[in-house]
Amino acid sequence: MQLIDGKLTSKEVRKEIAAEVAELKARGAKVPHLAAILVGHDGGSESYVAGKMKACEEVGFKSSLIRFEQEVTEAELLSQVKALNEDPDVDGFIVQLPLPKHIDEEKVNEAIDPRKDVDGFHPVNVGRMAIGMPAFVSATPQGIMELLKRYEIETAGKHVVVIGRSNIVGRPMSILLSQKGNPGNATVTVAHSRTANLKALCLDADIIIAAIGVPGFVKGDMVKEGAVVIDVGTTRVPATDTKSGWRLKGDVLFDEVAPKCSYITPVPGGVGPMTITSLIINTLKSAKKEIYTE
Ligand code: GUN
Repeated sequence: MQLIDGKLTSKEVRKEIAAEVAELKARGAKVPHLAAILVGHDGGSESYVAGKMKACEEVGFKSSLIRFEQEVTEAELLSQVKALNEDPDVDGFIVQLPLPKHIDEEKVNEAIDPRKDVDGFHPVNVGRMAIGMPAFVSATPQGIMELLKRYEIETAGKHVVVIGRSNIVGRPMSILLSQKGNPGNATVTVAHSRTANLKALCLDADIIIAAIGVPGFVKGDMVKEGAVVIDVGTTRVPATDTKSGWRLKGDVLFDEVAPKCSYITPVPGGVGPMTITSLIINTLKSAKKEIYTE
């Protein structure tokens, strides 16, 4: 069994990007610029956004954090989105979710210029991704694709079972892996809460991607010998022996499943560390006009 080390891979990717940014700077070219809008002071959102800003610093990007209080109106937020859409210095930006209940997240998401939508949440990017056009792909599926590629995990002709059908993980993951390409060319089953015979499906899987948000859902008797298991779960469960009072639990019962696997991602330290790095990859792609060429 080999661990897929997302922390190490993330460090390597960031080092490569830092070298590319240093080269851009040496040539006098524009430095990539990521902006983030953060509404309110939710602990989780604060720490995610801080991680995103820190990653920018690490690779030499310019970053801007735009804060609003919880009471901000939808109109004010939309006006800020418009300003960022029109700011030629900003290559990409995100609006950290969740937003307060009085604000329509879909409306805000759709107001973002798809050319600057480095989160890959805009319907235009989701649609482009689905039909195999160049697109910004959301962080978690892109991070998993990067891990599969870098660990040279064969996906062509393999049976992948994706457990979970969310718009930002399960569904895009299933589309990407069934498309032509490497990673890709897999036969994909999307399983969810209404799936019958999930255990039998999982036992047939060469690769399992668990993205349901139920800690320890995938057990040892659901996994065949030699399978690759990617754990996307990041549920915070109470813990008495950590400073924070909680610890992250994956969707996979690691101790039972790991001995049967050829490869497995741990939680923490697997898929998680790759997500912010994916945002950095997208911002660089945007700055280089790789997705939208004009
Ligand atoms: N909230 C939790 N994850 C994300 C993410 O990837 N992007 C944004 N904008 N908000 C989030």
